[in-house]
Amino acid sequence: MLKIGNLKLKSRLILAPMAGVSDFPYRMINRKFGFELAFTEMINCRSLSYKSKKTKRMLYSDAKDKPIGVQLLASQPEYLLHALDVIKQYNFDVLDFNAACPVKKVVNRGEGAALLKTPKKLNRLLKLIVKEVDIPVTVKLRTGWDGVACDIKELASACSDSGISAVFIHGRTRAQGYSGEVDYQTIRKFKKHIKIPVIASGNIFSAQLAKKMFDETGCDGVLIARGVLGNPWLFKEISEFLKNGKILKEPSAKERIKAISDHLSMSVDFYGERNGVKLFRKFLIWYTTGLPKIRLLRESINHMKTKDEMMSFIPRCFNF
Ligand SMILES: Cc1cc2nc3c(=O)[nH]c(=O)nc-3n(C[C@H](O)[C@H](O)[C@H](O)COP(=O)(O)O)c2cc1C
Repeated sequence: MLKIGNLKLKSRLILAPMAGVSDFPYRMINRKFGFELAFTEMINCRSLSYKSKKTKRMLYSDAKDKPIGVQLLASQPEYLLHALDVIKQYNFDVLDFNAACPVKKVVNRGEGAALLKTPKKLNRLLKLIVKEVDIPVTVKLRTGWDGVACDIKELASACSDSGISAVFIHGRTRAQGYSGEVDYQTIRKFKKHIKIPVIASGNIFSAQLAKKMFDETGCDGVLIARGVLGNPWLFKEISEFLKNGKILKEPSAKERIKAISDHLSMSVDFYGERNGVKLFRKFLIWYTTGLPKIRLLRESINHMKTKDEMMSFIPRCFNF
């Protein structure tokens, strides 16, 4: 079991927030395969407004999409306070604050991973959120800004002193982006300096890599990100392996076709046919990665406009 403030989770595996990916249909297909806590896409507090259709869609959730966390990006208290006012009208179970995003435009504004360089400021922002909301607050960090790890002790105390309930930490520096080795040792050091749960992220692409993260860092949970793109079965694979060391059989072609078709239907129901199909193209690419003789077939994906077109294409990828 994993406890984040008053939120009790049966699973120690959490579906990571991913900008441009973690929308409602994506969360729902992953929940079908076992995920418990999931996150919305990162929300930039500067662009959050009460009425915008885009905001409403990004914050949309329903009774089946639970427990659900929202993730905010900010560096200025006034934008943050405004966003918290909007967020309070929704029914989120966790609020995560992003101090990990590596994107240049973001860090140049002092947001995301830039906050790793200013732990005092990070601490003030976290305190402000904890004071304002009555749900558990968490933070998402990286292990460092440039080539070297941060002052882990200082970062850990900036987090614990703020009253937050858990920390997510991606085992890479901002300079590494999303590639290069995961720094298990720094996560382990961080865990030693903090009493609240530490949920680790980085290269959770298989059951074995998930176990390695637990073993090498002593973390309380893992955050699953790219590993689940096109592979919602990863949750079960990891859970089984952690429970009894068993490696599950790969899903059959029929199971795959069903999951992809269900995900496409959810995308079309949520966004309407035109946008639902368009937004699903990238998922279809992920779902079909590695299939034999798929290259030529896949070239047509980016031209597909209707649900029927995609629905009839999916079984063909598996030679049905
Ligand atoms: C396309 C993409 C979008 C991401 N968006 C976010 C985000 O909005 N918020 C966040 O905290 N992390 C984000 N991440 C980072 C992931 O949550 C995760 O920490 C990172 O990918 C490392 O895990 P992995 O190596 O298992 O993918 C994103 C990663 C990717 C690949």
